Amino acid sequence: MNIALVDHKLFVVSEAVGVSVYDFNFELHFPCSHPYQIEREAPCVLRIGAIADYETEFNDKAALGLRLVNSPAEHKLASELEHWYPLIDDLTPRTLMFDELPEVHAIEANFAWPVFIKGSRQTSKHNPELSIVRDRGQYEQVMQRYKGDPILHWQKPVVREFVPLAPVPGHVPGKVVPSMEYRSFWWHGECVGWGRYWYQVPIYDPEDAASGLEVAQEAARRVAVPFLVVDFARTADGRWIVIECNDAQESGYVAIPPHTLWRNVLEKMDA
Ligand SMILES: Nc1ncnc2c1ncn2[C@@H]1O[C@H](COP(=O)(O)OP(=O)(O)O)[C@@H](O)[C@H]1O
Ligand SMILES: [Mg+2]
Repeated sequence: MNIALVDHKLFVVSEAVGVSVYDFNFELHFPCSHPYQIEREAPCVLRIGAIADYETEFNDKAALGLRLVNSPAEHKLASELEHWYPLIDDLTPRTLMFDELPEVHAIEANFAWPVFIKGSRQTSKHNPELSIVRDRGQYEQVMQRYKGDPILHWQKPVVREFVPLAPVPGHVPGKVVPSMEYRSFWWHGECVGWGRYWYQVPIYDPEDAASGLEVAQEAARRVAVPFLVVDFARTADGRWIVIECNDAQESGYVAIPPHTLWRNVLEKMDA
């Protein structure tokens, strides 16, 4: 674990996770120091990948004098659909939340097939077989596989209206079909970076992407978590919707240049 004070004002606790769109070497881009004693309170960002137990992490860092930018409650609000959804239900696909996967009739009473199923936090690595469920038969398979899936089994399931998204050329093996989707990073309500979510496919650049950013901004305003990510996409019928929110500490940069993002964060800290 590496603790750096970046540009004299932001602590970053990092660990390389081996994912090129997540890891970022602050030392190469910004003046960094490594104080062996932390004398002054400064905000701190964790860049250690997925955080299994945020509250413990928060308390451990607090004991070192490091104040993580998102409180445990804010982390939950950003990461779990059951918490952010009620704040932005008009900006994102209609969703029902369950304690366990519901019986098929509960789905049919509320949705038309296909439906989009995921855990309150995430899908199983964007595997379409476990997320885009086209009929009863496939739902039965998903019910069987959900409990044994290492990512899904501990999460509360959510069932979402399947909204066809505007497709883009290209394909990423094992993942849902890439669409006109973007990721945006928000630092205390201000955008510090946004860019294409599907960085693996040819560049897409719809002329109305700024309208999507406005939707994301409204979501960021309502969710109001200090360091937040809002993913948004263009639907096949031309609307912009929010796909999900997340704690930005856990999020990959996708096509966003990370040095610009962090320079923007550091500038906002001066304001
Ligand atoms: N309701 C939906 N309808 C259609 N496609 C969706 C829907 N929700 C998500 N997707 C697609 O599936 C992908 C993965 O879903 P997402 O909710 O972002 O899961 P994760 O939390 O694992 O990233 C999204 O990037 C988007 O392309
Ligand atoms: Mg996602």
